[in-house]
Amino acid sequence: MNAMINEFSSRFGKSPEHIFFCPGRVNLIGEHIDYNGGKVMPCAISLGTYLAVSKNKDKLLRFHSLNFPETAELHLQESYSKTGSTWFNYPLGVINEILNEGNVISGLDMLFYGDLPIGAGLSSSASIEVLTGFALNQLFGLKISNKDIALMGKKVENKFIGVNSGIMDQFAVAMGKKNNAILLDCDKLEYEYIPFEIGDHILAIINSNKQRTLADSKYNERFAECGKALKALKKELNVTHLCDIDLKTFEDHRHLINDPVLGKRALHVISEYFRVGEAIAALKVNDLISFGKEMYASHQSLKDWYEVSGKELDTIVEFCKTYEDCIGARMTGAGFGGCAIALVKKNKFEDFSSKINAYYEEKIGYKPDVFASEIGDGVGELKKEFT
Ligand code: GLA
Repeated sequence: MNAMINEFSSRFGKSPEHIFFCPGRVNLIGEHIDYNGGKVMPCAISLGTYLAVSKNKDKLLRFHSLNFPETAELHLQESYSKTGSTWFNYPLGVINEILNEGNVISGLDMLFYGDLPIGAGLSSSASIEVLTGFALNQLFGLKISNKDIALMGKKVENKFIGVNSGIMDQFAVAMGKKNNAILLDCDKLEYEYIPFEIGDHILAIINSNKQRTLADSKYNERFAECGKALKALKKELNVTHLCDIDLKTFEDHRHLINDPVLGKRALHVISEYFRVGEAIAALKVNDLISFGKEMYASHQSLKDWYEVSGKELDTIVEFCKTYEDCIGARMTGAGFGGCAIALVKKNKFEDFSSKINAYYEEKIGYKPDVFASEIGDGVGELKKEFT
């Protein structure tokens, strides 16, 4: 935090008035379910994005980051549109949305910093969106609930950035609770916290360090495929989402889907939603072994039916299956690279870490990053006055 304050002072010639923090997230189970109307089980992590900010009287929005050299200085105007593929499109999209809703703001000097690996499936974009929404809400007394800030982040992602993502990421980082998973019904937006008690295990995050190429367009492709599969099933089934269909009903009606690729996509979604139910039941009675099995099964389905994994993530999970003190693992987030999570015996973490490093490097040619994750709180303010 001191480094941020110093850097803010040297860039803007004054101290920041506030510092806010928003975490990233992992999803324990329920992948590619949020935009299909089911329940998911994410939790906020301790890594995330920070924003040091002060109002200015210059009617200027100044965007700086410690992660990217690119800065911007934009005159305050009624609305904005996306500029290329720059990092500040995310906070700019949120500011645009806040202005579109008729709110009045002043100029802002902003310095962002993230310790989340960017574009690695830990929701760096949801983190910066919710962070910006929360900060503006506090600075200008907008009285927007955290849930609505999450919805605003999703809207920015869908309309401003152009990715048809669901609500899971923004909701998780806005509403996270220390040591708890969030069981979120993405259709009704109802949620409950489930204590994530993993006893003598820890939740490891393994970053494949694979650059995610074309991830946005492939994500939108999966979104569209689910829509098409649903449309075909609706010829005989009176449903709103793929997650309204159980496995038996799906098998009885699968013939309605002519394209086998669409059949596989629907099978992943419907079976994954079934696994979410099994995983919840397991977690509620502290049956971690069964929970871990659902994680492995989820990965397999993402690999075979949804085809969003890849050799890097598969190599990680393949290793985990052979490691006796790992009871479950799967890719987390959209896929196409990014991170996997694993439940590993606490006292074996060092050993796990060094062995998976060696195994992965030998197969893939470079190292992954392995770290133990803490389940943290959602977005918040760190400290008020620095002057
Ligand atoms: C990305 C999206 C989420 C969700 C996951 C897959 O993280 O932003 O909305 O769809 O992928 O579960």
